[in-house]
Amino acid sequence: MFVPRLASSVSEVEELKREAGIAACDFIRNGMKLGLGTGSTVKYTVIEIGRRIAEEGLEVVGVPTSEATRILADQVGIPLVSLAETGGLDLVIDGADEFDGNFALIKGGGGALTREKIVAQSSNGMVVVADDRKQVSTLGAFDLPIEVLPFEWRRTADRVAEICPGKVSRRGGVEPFITDNGGYILDCKFGDSISTPSSLETKILSIAGVVEVGLFVGICDAVILASSGGVLTLVNENGRLT
Ligand code: A5P
Repeated sequence: MFVPRLASSVSEVEELKREAGIAACDFIRNGMKLGLGTGSTVKYTVIEIGRRIAEEGLEVVGVPTSEATRILADQVGIPLVSLAETGGLDLVIDGADEFDGNFALIKGGGGALTREKIVAQSSNGMVVVADDRKQVSTLGAFDLPIEVLPFEWRRTADRVAEICPGKVSRRGGVEPFITDNGGYILDCKFGDSISTPSSLETKILSIAGVVEVGLFVGICDAVILASSGGVLTLVNENGRLT
């Protein structure tokens, strides 16, 4: 796998996010039904789609993965629909917190993982936009986000802690972060040890009170990776875009 040089400054990282976000628009065709991801990288994709609609007559519709993205997409003029109305999506473009060599992802740094997974599972392709800090050999250095129901969430967290080697914390502490679905997020310190993300996903999802876990396995078809060396498209040979 390509090993990029790491970006060093905040402004350089922001520029890489912008480059990756815009480059992903090369996958978009007229008439597509799009999933619109959440986060500081894919926001550049959403803005660019809006520009192309306004300036180039691009015709697409979008399903947002969060309230933040819904507001942004609305502001830039992307027609929004529901999954029920579209019956399925051609493509979702979204960010990630980590991706490994098998294109497995950790997502949920922004707390939108449940809607993101619903939209990703309803799409015929998934393109991830990322800067070079997100590429890892083994997932888990980024705390794994899990959305849980507020009801008896401590009990749910204790059960998650039985399988997580490190600390399990509710995001936001005493003033908890509340997701768009009214849930809490547990941030779980697995460390860079998640070598079988699929079986971990199954284990976590078997715990009552867990709404969704930010492991996305077998869903990502390509990563647009921006580094100071340029923008690369990494295509998953086992994916749907080959
Ligand atoms: C939102 O819940 C996340 O899954 C984001 O897609 C992910 O955290 C990447 O976000 P950034 O592009 O802001 O790093």
